[in-house]
Amino acid sequence: MLNEIKEKLRASLSEKRYTHSLGVADEARRLAQIYGCDADKAYLAGLLHDCAKGIPTDRQIAECDKRGVKIDKWTRMCPPVVHGFLGAQIAKESYGVTDSEILGAIRHHTVGGDGMTLLEKIIYIADMTEKNRDFDGVTELRNEVNKDLDSAIELSIRQQLKLCMSRRSIIHPDIICLWNDILTRDTKTTERGH
Ligand SMILES: [Fe+2]
Ligand SMILES: [Fe+2]
Repeated sequence: MLNEIKEKLRASLSEKRYTHSLGVADEARRLAQIYGCDADKAYLAGLLHDCAKGIPTDRQIAECDKRGVKIDKWTRMCPPVVHGFLGAQIAKESYGVTDSEILGAIRHHTVGGDGMTLLEKIIYIADMTEKNRDFDGVTELRNEVNKDLDSAIELSIRQQLKLCMSRRSIIHPDIICLWNDILTRDTKTTERGH
């Protein structure tokens, strides 16, 4: 089953993107073991998180509309974000994934959101810290992710927002929701999302 999924995925992505997907799967499984999440689910979600990336970015919004995937106006204005929403649908249609936690992790991996589950957080950060990634600040992020998941996400958002602002890019509101959620985690009385 897993081998079939890998072959299909390999055929639909560039070699670089497929290697990245294997890296995210490995990193997600490792983080799942550290933070007490289902390692097999984390591996599959990591493997498939970019499964829509084989569709050209300029066609992804049309594919969402065609398949009935609801995306809001901010997502429409942020083309690099769309493959997460589309990817959840492709994982269901083409890879037979029915697990809502895995689909949620694929859907939210690009910009996050409020009240993310542990699996969603793991995929979100594993996308940045997997071994093939190379960008300014990745070492600090890798150090942080081994200590505290939320602190690593906070650092990652800080890095991403700095970049967005320096480029005058539109900032998707879901990443602000994730930021606010992380900053107020200590004030929450009930544990959510596990
Ligand atoms: Fe992605
Ligand atoms: Fe990715």
